[in-house]
Amino acid sequence: MIADRVREYIVEIEKSSVSNKEELEAFRMRFISKKGVLTELFDGLKSAPAEDRRALGQELNALKNLAQDRFKEFNETIENGSEKELSATVDLSLPVTPGEQGALHPLSIVKRRIIEIFERMGFNVSYGPEIEKDWYNFSALNFADNHPAREMQDTFFISKSEVATREDVLLRTHTSNVQVRLMERQKPPIRSIMPGRVFRNEAISARAHCVFHQVEGLYIDRSVSFKDLKDTLYHFAKEMFGKDTKIRLRPSYFPFTEPSAEIDVSCFICGGSGCNICKHSGWVEIGGSGMVDPNVLENCGIDSNEYTGFAFGMGVERITMLRYGINDLRLFTENDIRFIRQFQGA
Ligand code: DAH
Repeated sequence: MIADRVREYIVEIEKSSVSNKEELEAFRMRFISKKGVLTELFDGLKSAPAEDRRALGQELNALKNLAQDRFKEFNETIENGSEKELSATVDLSLPVTPGEQGALHPLSIVKRRIIEIFERMGFNVSYGPEIEKDWYNFSALNFADNHPAREMQDTFFISKSEVATREDVLLRTHTSNVQVRLMERQKPPIRSIMPGRVFRNEAISARAHCVFHQVEGLYIDRSVSFKDLKDTLYHFAKEMFGKDTKIRLRPSYFPFTEPSAEIDVSCFICGGSGCNICKHSGWVEIGGSGMVDPNVLENCGIDSNEYTGFAFGMGVERITMLRYGINDLRLFTENDIRFIRQFQGA
């Protein structure tokens, strides 16, 4: 019985052919798989008369080898076939279509330029965390607990207690947090700029956004004066906006500086005669500045009798908008490559 079936299967296998993967799989299922005829025949061997078993076993093994060899053959033919098909459709000698090239974001271009100018004046670059403790964003910077100045900057809190504590966690509202971290870990002289992303709970519009960028600056040493601040900002403005640029420091208030001043530069679009960008005033504001409040120095472990310093903070979006005449903040975050491409080499 078994011997007859073996002969039939040998004929069947020799005659069979496959032309695709599905047929190959059907062949495998029929002969080789655990549920295939070979398994069944080997099982049947147990009930065959003892004296025939040896001979039958040999025949079955031969059948098994035949099935496996055929399977290998079929498999190779199909694989080669698909390679041939592929090379018939892909012409490897065709010239390559170049991939689309990206471009530096205008904010990155301006940030790099700001860094470059200050680095040449001897400032190094420091970074700090965007998720920050109240202490670094407010308390160490001389914002009294519950002082309304905290409301100047609509804060995104991550964890907040009833009464403000130094342990509250928030998204930093300015890069001034890095000043504190730097002063805590480094002895003067300190001369550093700190670029970074900041967050405020503001409705998004052409003129306001909840995420934007600042570059903070800090210079602490013996006898640093307001004149040093003025000279530094003046040099920066000329390098950034052109050699005829003037600056104006307008009295202002920040808890962490005393005295404090708003930084204006003469409008480089109209040269000061008045235009839409400067709202016909001849001046545009780019940031805040001042002499570091002695309380801040003391909070950070620096002796305010020995050292003085100046600090400033500027808006990168603001400078970029002025420089390129961009009138809507939202363009920066829409990621439209056509917008971003316009600033290369500008
Ligand atoms: N932190 C201020 C703001 O975000 C900007 C600023 C003003 C930074 C004066 C300073 C400074 O370091 O001295 O509005």
